Amino acid sequence: MRIAHLSDLHFGRRVSREKLLSLERDIATESPDLLAITGDITDRGRTSQFRSAIDFLSSLGIPFISVPGNREICFSAVWEWMFPPLAMMRYKEFFGNPDRILYRPDQSNVVCFGLNSVHPFPSWPGSISRESRYWLKEKAAQFPECLKILLLHHPVLPVVRSSSFWAHTFSDAGELLNICTQTGISLILQGHKHRSSIMEVIFPERNAKIVVSACGAPLMSQWDPVYHIIDISLASIVIRPKEFREGRFNEKGAYRFSSVYDDLFSSASERLT
Ligand SMILES: [Fe+2]
Repeated sequence: MRIAHLSDLHFGRRVSREKLLSLERDIATESPDLLAITGDITDRGRTSQFRSAIDFLSSLGIPFISVPGNREICFSAVWEWMFPPLAMMRYKEFFGNPDRILYRPDQSNVVCFGLNSVHPFPSWPGSISRESRYWLKEKAAQFPECLKILLLHHPVLPVVRSSSFWAHTFSDAGELLNICTQTGISLILQGHKHRSSIMEVIFPERNAKIVVSACGAPLMSQWDPVYHIIDISLASIVIRPKEFREGRFNEKGAYRFSSVYDDLFSSASERLT
């Protein structure tokens, strides 16, 4: 199964038209089975920005799943900050349920979970509700035969080359990692920092390992204009970051991970290029 991991598209004034067209072309060439979008789909949470985003994503003709980011809350709608249920109003209208998402493609041994990590105050550090953590623990345990993927916007791990200011690694990240090791989640997709980074965390005491794909901001000119193509099988996870350079998205490298924990040495990643 091939997944395109997109994040921080920031539809609105900061989107580059050139990058948007290149992204469309590159995704068509890669032909992924699924787009996994980890939040900050819009720049300011405006209806017009949601509409542009959904029009673009729908035009690609590829199934997509998403979780919201902090930018989905409108900065100027103070009432949405005060009443959390209102905060995801427009996101729900265009993208559906913002939390506790379970997606298993037909005939697939891959199952995706999505959690809402957004605090209703814009740019407030992320958090996952206790109910959502319990939900993940229960649901993820129900698919012992599948490779499990978790989507969330805020970083569960810090990202190299990003500042600690606005780090926003959420306060209950440790508890979430604990659940991931208990339930066999192999891959976490995260966003928010606009820096592309690929990590592998090994938990020898749990006989567990987790690969983390931290996506860039592919349509923006600042930070990393990078998205990730991820090829998944029950045996391996291969991640290829693709960076916008000289008018097109180019492959920056490829990294292969065993998707099962063997021992400390055999589980180390292999750089393919
Ligand atoms: Fe964000």
